[in-house]
Amino acid sequence: MDKKTFYITTPIYYPSGNPHIGHCYTTVACDSLARYKRMQGYDVMFLTGTDEHGQKIEEKAKDAGITPKEYVDEKVAKFKKLWSYMNISYDRYIRTTDDYHVKAVQTIFSRLYEKGYIYKGEYTGKYCTPCESFWTESQLDENGCCPECHREVKEAKEEAYFFKMSPFAERIERLLLDTDYLRPKYRAQELVNNFIKPGLEDLCVSRTSFKWGIPVTFDEKHVVYVWIDALSNYITALGFENDAYDDYKKYWPADVHMVAKDIMRFHAIIWPAMLMALDEPLPKHLAVHGWITFNGQKMSKSLGNVVDPFILGERYGADAIRYHIMREMALGADSSFSNEIMINRINSDLANGLGNLVSRTVAMADKYFGGTLPAEREAGEFDDELIAEATALRAKVDGFVDETQINNALAEIFKVVSRANKYIDETAPWVLGKDESKKARLASVLYNLLDTIRIVSTLLSPFMPTDMPKVFEQIGADEGTISYENAGKFGVLPANVTVHRGEIIFPRIDVDKEIDELNKIIGDNAPKADDNDAFTPPGLLPEITIDDFAKIDIRVAQVKECEKVKKSKKLLCLQLDDGMGGRQVVSGIAEWYKPEDLIGKKVMIIANLKPVKLCGVESNGMICAADNKDGGATVIFPDQSLPNGAKVR
Ligand code: MSP
Repeated sequence: MDKKTFYITTPIYYPSGNPHIGHCYTTVACDSLARYKRMQGYDVMFLTGTDEHGQKIEEKAKDAGITPKEYVDEKVAKFKKLWSYMNISYDRYIRTTDDYHVKAVQTIFSRLYEKGYIYKGEYTGKYCTPCESFWTESQLDENGCCPECHREVKEAKEEAYFFKMSPFAERIERLLLDTDYLRPKYRAQELVNNFIKPGLEDLCVSRTSFKWGIPVTFDEKHVVYVWIDALSNYITALGFENDAYDDYKKYWPADVHMVAKDIMRFHAIIWPAMLMALDEPLPKHLAVHGWITFNGQKMSKSLGNVVDPFILGERYGADAIRYHIMREMALGADSSFSNEIMINRINSDLANGLGNLVSRTVAMADKYFGGTLPAEREAGEFDDELIAEATALRAKVDGFVDETQINNALAEIFKVVSRANKYIDETAPWVLGKDESKKARLASVLYNLLDTIRIVSTLLSPFMPTDMPKVFEQIGADEGTISYENAGKFGVLPANVTVHRGEIIFPRIDVDKEIDELNKIIGDNAPKADDNDAFTPPGLLPEITIDDFAKIDIRVAQVKECEKVKKSKKLLCLQLDDGMGGRQVVSGIAEWYKPEDLIGKKVMIIANLKPVKLCGVESNGMICAADNKDGGATVIFPDQSLPNGAKVR
């Protein structure tokens, strides 16, 4: 029987500058999903590539005194070097300057013209050169600038071809609202409201103002609009309208296109419209993630050297970087990057969590049994719970992988790592090791740990492909035991397994020293510290455990109505949409906020606080705010794109 297929794509990147860590997220995420699906036995096609045409590239090459092709060749080499460094296992790399793609795009354009979906007209509009996008007046931001990059747009007028989008408006609306094409789904309504409800405008799909593009075959002074050229890559790379490949029937429609939010519109509206016009099937899912931000801005090449993936990889290993960016980024939301958060995450999850689990277990097997476990066993307290959690892990990870929720998949895996570390504390093998009569129990404990590590590291291997083989080696898991099938079972390692003590896989990093070193490398690009002089943080409260913290349910909620509480100077009464039917909360922030400052804003609330009456008004929860330097409180506004009811963790 033919294997089931899985086709996943990254966007094709603009090689207009050097790649940076912002580009890494999608590629690393897709690579992990591709590897996971291969492990599950799918026949995977993982496509990435570069989007090499357009005015911006033409201009950059001119400035550099070289041809556009020379310019992109050099940059493409850098992208490929980064992907090899990050251990990216793409199956195919498309360059939009590849001959087969150029010819296929010409055929696609002509087909749409012959079908009457493309027609000739004249374009007058606002053009954003960096984004290569035309905008209508109503789409510009509040300053009359590009709604995407907020830079100046210029008036542009040219004879152009247009793509009729309106015939597909209804179908696209249904695709967005009624199917699970778009992930996360809550973005669908915003797209429909912004682009479809006002009337889907025809799209200008050719340019005459520059040359570096794919010529329209029947009107050579026009080049094809770069987005029509670029989006087509997802099918031309499979052999659509060309002979270079013959995989279209096998892999199309794509299972997942993964993109960041700035290019969601192109993939959620224009791409489906193109496919509808061509009468081709639509992709199954579009997974949209946020940006990796730095000091609140989208990470870009100008900030690239602050967090150069090569420098970070050299210091901590490519897998640690892969892990960190995937663990931090939730589908749909932005994630702010800081070297400090990254190092703390590597220390807590990898060095203290997984690394410690592996090295303690292997060291004890070595110490108490010379490296090879005896066959005698004695079951005991805590075993069942650990074994049940380890055995159930694969199904949970599968679920999150299928939903493209990579951070959650990793979180599940690390819950089992924590559970296993807790099992060491509960069973205290060092105590068992002192008592000859407890050897069989000790062997069971160590076996349970080793087999749990086998499951965890097998499931982690698609995400961290370089380091997991080192774990397999240390716990004595040979190839026969490492498989997706075995990751769903407990008791796969041989009873008399032999461990091999080795290097520390995830060394602990000295945070202060590293931050100093990184700041030296960054030099003038170092983030400016906030002025903290006038503020002394209050002392820390006594330590709590993660279980204590887990009792606090913090949610995102949106302020729908807000008014002052009568007879109180300090209290505001807020009506919130908490995604769960709504609630009323009273908050002591009236001295610093007027009701109109808050209406419409998303805030964070402690949602499971026992209701109380304040000045006779019932309050169901508490708004999160932080002390500010002026002795007042500043409400914490989370990323405003978070859905109401989202849980803060
Ligand atoms: N060439 C187009 C895509 C065409 S796909 C048919 C393009 N290229 S890009 O190089 O500018 O961006 C490629 C992807 O990288 C986009 O999804 C973009 O949002 C993403 N990222 C660039 N900087 C990023 C961050 N700082 N964080 C997360 N993703 C980022 O758009």
